[in-house]
Amino acid sequence: MTRQTNPVATARYPTAAAILHWIVAVGTLTLVATGAFMVGLPRNTEQRALLFNLHKSLGILTAAFSVALIAWRLRNRPPALPAAMARWEQRAAALNHVLFYLLMVIVAGTGYLTSSFSKFGPKLFGIPIPHWGWDDPLLRGHFADGHRVAAWTFAALIGLHVMAALKHLLLDRDGVFQRMVPAAPSDPPAVERGSRRNGP
Ligand code: HEM
Ligand code: HEM
Repeated sequence: MTRQTNPVATARYPTAAAILHWIVAVGTLTLVATGAFMVGLPRNTEQRALLFNLHKSLGILTAAFSVALIAWRLRNRPPALPAAMARWEQRAAALNHVLFYLLMVIVAGTGYLTSSFSKFGPKLFGIPIPHWGWDDPLLRGHFADGHRVAAWTFAALIGLHVMAALKHLLLDRDGVFQRMVPAAPSDPPAVERGSRRNGP
């Protein structure tokens, strides 16, 4: 392994990957907010139905962008982290990212299954989408429990991730945050410097 000498991160994520990250991030944060809000609304009201449909549609869209982000990540290495970053921090970030990718699939999958086993079914902006479930309150309840636990685990890890990102931006000022800022057309191309493989 070649030793990295750059004290700050100089390479950044390619623009397409950074844009995908921010779409998935905004989608997921909105889903946590709408999900948490809608389950407290009174049953059989228009507002609850509207919020559930919005949540399902946004969930399906976010899942599609998450699949694109996962596909990008399976084919590419992330840009190098600064050499000064502690080894445990690098490992913690890599572990968090693996859990993120797993949770993207688990949370969207359990949400889809919850809807599939309800009489309403999964819908994309009012259009029913294919599903292989039926109206089964018991199964629906199990999937809803799984969806709730996975979604709140995801939210807790996102909290850690955001705090770590802000620490890099405001305290460490080591360029780690800037790696995820989409490049302006006038910026130099995203070149990976350093040879350490970060993450899975
Ligand atoms: C990243 C993706 C998603 C996140 C972060 C998310 C988040 C949440 C949260 C926080 C709740 C409230 C849980 C509670 O406190 O009881 C919830 C509920 C729910 N979500 Fe999602 N969700 C996602 C994707 C989806 C998808 C793709 C669907 C369906 C197509 C879906 C369908 C539902 C349904 C039906 C409920 C209500 C479950 C119940 O009645 O207890 N979600 N979601
Ligand atoms: C305001 C919220 C967020 C901020 C400020 C933020 C910032 C960042 C930054 C600066 C990085 C690059 C640093 C690093 O490699 O660790 C990063 C990576 C990453 N973020 Fe976020 N993020 C946010 C929300 C999210 C959310 C909600 C998700 C998940 C749905 C997410 C998923 C990821 C993943 C998977 C990576 C690693 C990409 C890789 O595999 O290398 N982020 N984020």
